[in-house]
Amino acid sequence: MKIKKAVIPAAGLGTRVLPASKSIPKEMLNIVDKPAIQYIVEEAVKAGITDILIITNRGKGAIEDHFDHSFELESNLSKNPDKADILKEVQSPASLANIYFIRQKETKGLGDAILRAEQFIGNEPFAVLYGDDVIIGEDPAIAQLLRAYEEYGKGVVGIKEVTKEQIKKYSSLKVENIKDNVYNVTDMVEKPKTDAEILSLYSILGRCVLTPEIFDILKKTPLGAGNELQLTDAMKTLAKTKGMTGVDFTGTRYDMGNKFGMLKANIEVGLNHPETKDELKAYLKEISKNL
Ligand code: UTP
Repeated sequence: MKIKKAVIPAAGLGTRVLPASKSIPKEMLNIVDKPAIQYIVEEAVKAGITDILIITNRGKGAIEDHFDHSFELESNLSKNPDKADILKEVQSPASLANIYFIRQKETKGLGDAILRAEQFIGNEPFAVLYGDDVIIGEDPAIAQLLRAYEEYGKGVVGIKEVTKEQIKKYSSLKVENIKDNVYNVTDMVEKPKTDAEILSLYSILGRCVLTPEIFDILKKTPLGAGNELQLTDAMKTLAKTKGMTGVDFTGTRYDMGNKFGMLKANIEVGLNHPETKDELKAYLKEISKNL
C-alpha cells in the first residue's frame, strides 16, 4: 500500500530562535522567499503524499493562512499582467495538497504532538516531517524513507552522522549496516547524557515513517527528557520489538530551529535562486575579503 498521509508537527515553542519566533511561528521564518514549512510540504507532495496534517498551537494561525487563498492580494495581483508570476507563487500553497490542522493544546513534546494525529491517520502507516527541518535535495528525503518502508515493511527513520557535541542534544542510535546507506536500527536513546549512553554518532534527523502501533506505544510511554513525551522513546520500543530501518538520506538538512541553521539555509538557497544568486555570490566574495 502506498503511503499517502503525512504529519508535520509544528507546535513547538521555538525557544532557540527567540525573539524571531515570539509572534511568528518559527516554521514561517523564510528561506529567501518562502517560509520553511512550504519547502517541507513541497517535499512531501513530491514524494506522492496527498493528505497532510499540520500540528499547530496557539499563535500559529499564520501557517493556516499561508496554505489558504488570500483573496484581496490575489485579486489585486491578477489586475496587473506584469505580476502574473508572483500571482502563481502566491496561489500555489493553497492547492499543493489536502492540508488539515489540529492544535496540540499543551506543548508536551513531539510524542504528544504525534498522538494528536491518531484519528487522522487511523490504521495505516504514515510519514512524519519535522516542521523545522528543511531538507533540500534532488531526491526528496521522505521519498527515500518511503522506498525503504516498501522494501523492508518496518518503520523507518532518517539518519545522519553528527558530532559528539551534537549527539547529546539529539538522539543516538544502535545501527547495523544492511547495504549502502541503509541500516537496521535496534536501539536508541534520546539526548544521551554520558559518553557511555552514546550508541553511535548516528542520530534521527527530521524525517520518519511510522506504523500505526506507535499510537498505543506512545500512550504507554512515560515522560522522558525535558519531562516531555518523547517520540524517540516510543520508537525505541518499536526498534527493540519489530526493528526499524535507518536511511542515511541524501540532501542537505537545515535546522530552522536554530540561528545558524537559518543563516546557512538562506545563504545556500540564495546562492541557487535565480533572482539572488549573482548578487549574493558577488557580495559574499566581497565581504569574505575582510573575514
Ligand atoms: P524541537 O524540539 O526542535 O522544537 O521539536 P521546539 O520545542 O520548538 O524547540 P526549542 O528547543 O523550543 O527551540 C521538533 C519538532 O517537533 C515539534 C516542533 O515544532 C518541531 O517541528 N514539536 C515539539 C511539537 O509539535 N510539539 C511539542 O510539544 C514539541
